[in-house]
Amino acid sequence: MKNATKPVFSRWYPKGVLDSLIPPLLKPLLLYAGSMTHHMESICHSVKIDAHIEHHGFACRDERQLLDLPYRQMVWVREITMVCDGEPWLFGRTVIPQKTLVGYWKRLTRLRSIPLGAVLFRDPNIVRGEYEIAQLDKHHFLYNKSRRYLENDKDYLWARRSQFYLDENPLLLSEVFLPAMIKRIMK
Ligand code: PHB
Repeated sequence: MKNATKPVFSRWYPKGVLDSLIPPLLKPLLLYAGSMTHHMESICHSVKIDAHIEHHGFACRDERQLLDLPYRQMVWVREITMVCDGEPWLFGRTVIPQKTLVGYWKRLTRLRSIPLGAVLFRDPNIVRGEYEIAQLDKHHFLYNKSRRYLENDKDYLWARRSQFYLDENPLLLSEVFLPAMIKRIMK
């Protein structure tokens, strides 16, 4: 942690700022730049994407700020759980502004159990922005969305988010690393 004694929970920091706090075994996953689904397939026997939300909805405050969206502008929302060997490992939330959902990209609304990465990492024209990392606590909406996977409350959950640019139009992907994953990789 540079220039501060203690990070603030639920605040997003640029990659690098929380480096000294990330458990060394988690770091390769948290900072993994390629398709997370592919990577998981190298760790788990079976990887399944369970899409529970795919609909028009609203971005939350910190998503709106990052994407520079006006209040109550509708966006496309996709929420999934990545399930590895029957255990929930990762909660993913994608927010896509309307202006991004044109032409080829409309297919992002029809993914269901197809991993988002199957589209994003196939196209060399798609550029990934810098990661931000956070320790989300119970005051953050993504922590609360992940709560159903917690046997008991945690002080915080590790998460990352980054934008992908499709012909310069962004989408925002946030990923929360769930306790079952942490437990397995820490073994
Ligand atoms: C998704 O399919 O929405 C998805 C897949 C893997 C991730 C995040 C999101 O790590």
